[in-house]
Amino acid sequence: MKTAFSGIQPTAIPTIGNYLGALRNWVALSKTHRCVYSVVDMHAITVRQDPENLRKRVREVYALILACEPDPENTVLYVQSHVAAHAELSWILSNYTMFGELNRMTQFKDKSAKHADNINAGLFTYPVLQAADILLYDADVVPIGEDQKQHLELARDIALRFNGIYGNVFVVPEPMIPKTGARIMSLLDPARKMDKSDPNPGGYISMLDSRDAVITKCRRAVTDSGSDVRYDPVEKPGVSNLMTIYAICTGKTLEETESDFAGSGYGAFKTAVGEAADALLDPIRRRAQTLIQSPTHLDRLMAREAERAHAVADPVLRRVREVIGLLPRK
Ligand code: TYM
Repeated sequence: MKTAFSGIQPTAIPTIGNYLGALRNWVALSKTHRCVYSVVDMHAITVRQDPENLRKRVREVYALILACEPDPENTVLYVQSHVAAHAELSWILSNYTMFGELNRMTQFKDKSAKHADNINAGLFTYPVLQAADILLYDADVVPIGEDQKQHLELARDIALRFNGIYGNVFVVPEPMIPKTGARIMSLLDPARKMDKSDPNPGGYISMLDSRDAVITKCRRAVTDSGSDVRYDPVEKPGVSNLMTIYAICTGKTLEETESDFAGSGYGAFKTAVGEAADALLDPIRRRAQTLIQSPTHLDRLMAREAERAHAVADPVLRRVREVIGLLPRK
């Protein structure tokens, strides 16, 4: 069995963009791959977090992923900071990553602009930690949305560079980016991606939003001039984004979506998008809410899963320590 690895930041409740771009592939891969998935809390602290809120979010995001029902036989789901090997490998790999490479990362540029008062070193070296996450589990494939492609390419470059010096220590991972849904856009500004940390909640559909909220947000989504429901991301970015959401949620093609709404106008279309999104999210939301009510159960699961993750990561870390010449820990 090949291995898949991916992670999600617990900075806010995941959105339907996270689901359509990544989480649904996490679930799909769990039928055919050994999967290791992580709530990456150490990535989240590159932006200042309220400690109480962070604890709450980690449990909520963990519960939401469980509620998406990846196959438990093949899936390890753990909290990143519970496995110390991530921090250790990240330090090691930072010595094999060039300043210039990190300086080119668009997420660093975006986040520096957003958090101009806190452009810390962690924000800069964030992609090294991400490379460590992936390489620690010998991942063959990494299911992600389009915005993570550059980080994945850097992880591959680091692995190749390291292997070039020491032999085949790391598996070189491949990205898995869906054909549709890899970049779901904001409902209020279709030029920007949908972002769980958007200060305006009207821009995103949170996976825990109520049915009413989902439908209202879709009805208020920015559409384009004209009235025909036609897929054209350049001329009609708002409508095309809603069509993408509708098509994936209902399992229809974009052509079928176009013909479903031929002549019906934007109003009926937007309501239908909201209903389709709600139908997809409703069972996940219900399961997640039940799990969130049992924090002790979640904490017990997390402890067990951290041990399972550690058992996979530890031999890889030992391999790395040995080839670079660190004395073994007794
Ligand atoms: P994060 O938490 O921002 O997002 C989690 C996943 O959701 C995808 N995604 C989207 N897909 C489609 N449309 C959108 N609008 C959208 N927004 C987000 C992301 O591409 C991602 O796959 N750095 C990562 C977390 C991470 C990670 C890793 C991922 C840490 N270590 C190792 C893979 C492997 C991040 O911030 O994702």
